[in-house]
Amino acid sequence: MTPQVARVSVREELCMTEVVPDPCAIVIFGASGDLAKRKLIPSLLQLQAAGALPGQYRVIGIGRTPVTDEQFRAKMRLELPAGTGAAQAENFLGRLSYFSGDIISPGFYQALKEKLDALSREYGLKGRLFYLSTPPQAYPGIIEQLALAGLSRADGAGTAWVRAVIEKPFGTDLASARALNALVHNCFSENQVYRIDHYLGKETVQNILMFRFANTLFEPAWNRNHIDHVQITSAETLGVEHRAGYYDRSGVLRDMFQNHLMQLLAMIAMEPPVRFEADAVRDKKVDVLKAVRPFGEKELAGNFVRAQYAAGVMDGKPAAAYRAEPDVPADSATPTFAALKLEIDNWRWQGVPFYIRSGKRLGARLTEIAVHFKNVPVSIFKPLPADQLCANVLRFRIQPEEAITIRFEAKKPGPKLCISTVNMDFNYREGFGTPPPESYGRLFLDAMTGDQTIFARADGVEESWNILEPVLARAAADGVKGLAFYPAGSWGPAESAALLARDGREWDS
Ligand code: BG6
Repeated sequence: MTPQVARVSVREELCMTEVVPDPCAIVIFGASGDLAKRKLIPSLLQLQAAGALPGQYRVIGIGRTPVTDEQFRAKMRLELPAGTGAAQAENFLGRLSYFSGDIISPGFYQALKEKLDALSREYGLKGRLFYLSTPPQAYPGIIEQLALAGLSRADGAGTAWVRAVIEKPFGTDLASARALNALVHNCFSENQVYRIDHYLGKETVQNILMFRFANTLFEPAWNRNHIDHVQITSAETLGVEHRAGYYDRSGVLRDMFQNHLMQLLAMIAMEPPVRFEADAVRDKKVDVLKAVRPFGEKELAGNFVRAQYAAGVMDGKPAAAYRAEPDVPADSATPTFAALKLEIDNWRWQGVPFYIRSGKRLGARLTEIAVHFKNVPVSIFKPLPADQLCANVLRFRIQPEEAITIRFEAKKPGPKLCISTVNMDFNYREGFGTPPPESYGRLFLDAMTGDQTIFARADGVEESWNILEPVLARAAADGVKGLAFYPAGSWGPAESAALLARDGREWDS
């Protein structure tokens, strides 16, 4: 099949009102960690360069290691995106400071409060954003201590708002997520809480809602009458890297399914919200999760595959097995790949399977949602039977090469009557003249302006843990029994293909 490209022209933009954030203090717990270096600091710089930040803001890095402001700035300078101009860099770095101490001691929070009060007076800061990017075990202590020090509420005088941004993972199962939510709600109101799922900050994920609800063409067909099934894939080429300590306890179900993949499912399957506002959107997303058919014994048998990568070949080079990676136990039963078949019990989706898979060390990096439409009911192109005509597929390519494509049948030019499968292809880079920006910038900006639309709400997080509870329990009970293996660089184990083959279908890749 040779794909053909139909060019798409983009008309001038229509913008919803953009709110400029108030002058504020951004307090990053875990500032010497990987996330702060790789994502948080560079995206703040990019926001500044784009003129999206307020005239006054201060970034306070928090960590245990004693480091001076100058040393912190020098370290962060190394993380600024290539090509950052000298004036831009100096302006940004001058706003950074560092505050070290024992983050479980009440005295530390009193000192932090004094520092923040002083900064607020000096720079007229109105808001405080506490960003938790420490290991998750530290979250409860930080949240409690912030509240005890009087830092979790606006003081009504200088400080107009206080918000807490909480990185994933939010809990390790339903009970721990509930306990963390309860603690959070003792200290903050839900409208102060911004639970991060960085997939929701991706332009291509946000665009699912624009695509579905700012156009009329697709929504009438977005249901069980026209859609045969949906495939959601998040494939990574990376292995566990240096994160075995965290990953071996989490595995792919906690690391990718509970958050990113459930969010993609909710966005693709949700009903139209009454308006594009945080709770209206999140209500509809939670409805989808509530309607997912619970995994009983019957559903688990045959609808769930878990596997781990064995040695293989990536990019022509030998790649080690998961169990041979640094710090991974030699008998680990942690899945690095899983595939699930989900059913959604509501009027729109009854009988439409959603096949969802994710894994590390797969054949290519690809995150995609493929909506497979039904076959034509009858073929008028005799002798070609209906089932030999390719069904339409609408693909949301989340990353890389961000795109939306529609596969359809067309007459191949020429004297003979031949039908070919072609693609209509909208590519973000070509369409908008620029690749989509990093997700953390959007997440920061929305937290600073108080827009919770792209953050997970307490009930949503619990619902998605609830869906996975029986799956996690089965995996824990069976351990290595029932764990499949796949060569690094492949597309997963044979059991994953069999999951669809049983329904007469196959994965797109
Ligand atoms: C993170 C997971 O949440 O998402 C990682 O902890 C995973 O294991 C990453 O690699 C994938 O994110 P992205 O944006 O590269 O698809």
